[in-house]
Amino acid sequence: MGKLEDIVSLCKRRGFVFQGSEVYGGMAGTWDFGPLGVILKRKIMDEWWKYFVEEREDIYGVDAAILMNSRTWVASGHTATFADPLVECKECKNRFRADKIAEGISESVTTEEFLKTHTKCPICGKENWGPIRKFNMMFSTHVGAVLPEDVSENPELAEKGVAYLRPETAQGIFVNYKNVVDTIYPDLPFGIAQQGKAFRNEISPRDFILRDRECSQMEIEYFVRAESWEENFEKMRKAQHDFLENVMGLSAEKIHELEVPAEGRAHYSKRTIDFMFDYPNGEEELMGLAYRTDFDLSNIQRESGKSMEYRDKITGETFIPHVIEPSVGVERLFLAVLANAYYEDEVNGEKRVVLKLPENLAPYRFCVSPLLKNKPELVEKAKDVYQILRKKYGNVTWDDAGNIGKRYRKQDEIGTFECVVVDFDTLNDETVTVRNRDTTKQTRVKISEL
Ligand code: GAP
Repeated sequence: MGKLEDIVSLCKRRGFVFQGSEVYGGMAGTWDFGPLGVILKRKIMDEWWKYFVEEREDIYGVDAAILMNSRTWVASGHTATFADPLVECKECKNRFRADKIAEGISESVTTEEFLKTHTKCPICGKENWGPIRKFNMMFSTHVGAVLPEDVSENPELAEKGVAYLRPETAQGIFVNYKNVVDTIYPDLPFGIAQQGKAFRNEISPRDFILRDRECSQMEIEYFVRAESWEENFEKMRKAQHDFLENVMGLSAEKIHELEVPAEGRAHYSKRTIDFMFDYPNGEEELMGLAYRTDFDLSNIQRESGKSMEYRDKITGETFIPHVIEPSVGVERLFLAVLANAYYEDEVNGEKRVVLKLPENLAPYRFCVSPLLKNKPELVEKAKDVYQILRKKYGNVTWDDAGNIGKRYRKQDEIGTFECVVVDFDTLNDETVTVRNRDTTKQTRVKISEL
């Protein structure tokens, strides 16, 4: 595994990830995915969708709106409790998350507890703090044609059109639970999955793409009978672990399951396991698995006045299902996949950077090259091979710049799985050289057998 700065540098150098709005000096906590990054990001998302939705018969997908009726966030508890403890240094006026700069204190820290830790300001080094204040992390916006001058004349308009960018994709699932039940008639247990953007006004975005203000989540709300939650929690825990290890290719020894104590859990959770990953800067949360009880559906029922009950098709019994929720951020998974795959080694006495990505995630399955760029017959034949492979695999790239050794280094660095080289022998026997990224071994293969 490389250092975080090596990975950041590779991401920028090779077009995986750029700072958001970089040309204007950037915008903290936002990131743009470049040509290679978007391929990897989509592959991660597609693999998740395949594993949890397409290959299972009990999980359905939705794609809900980002802007939601504000009552959503009252019912979910986010308006009241989705807040971080904010503390300001009175000397330099910088603001921090109190629980993050003072180690070992909880998120519900009080000013008195914080002052006892004698934390110094990480910017100016002084110890002169203001009171701890609760800072709600939802981004608000206005919906509808309300002008600032309308609000100044009629202040209650300010509240009226307020909407929030969703801080989790989960609520887009919960508000559609009844629609799915009434259109698909699923048997319990069943799940609803969603992938999409979520927004959090993080006080201190940090560690590259690990803590962002705009991120993408992949979440499932899995509806179960209350009495079977433990059994389903365990099945979901195993499925998540299997996905991380066997589909994302993450090393088992870098994944740690952490049982979160009651005081560290979100307001809706009765049990949470955080899947921690050994990132370059240390162990951090990669994803969470929570038992949300009937918290959300009961609150929606109360707030909306509409029944969220499920009717058993055989017994006719009605009840509000309980929920198991696995939730993972795409950017955190993206960084884990990159960090896990990043190696520096030596080939023929030369240092190389190589991304040993699993075959299903490599941005390019093949790179095709003619041995020499100035031999038209080789270029023509290589173009034929390139088109054949593009039709078959889609994710194939072309490279004819520099010598073959340089091309291999360039492809290793972006994780291209195999390089195919067309040479003079190809013109006689229809075989090509196939060079493997990880072993660097070269074999001769018939074009028809690629
Ligand atoms: N619906 C449950 C939920 O949102 P969470 O623990 O707040 O729970 C779930 O977030 C996952 O979303 C995290 O484990 C992480 O992977 C990702 N995530 C949350 N906040 C993030 C942020 N600011 N930047 C990047 N990823 C984030």
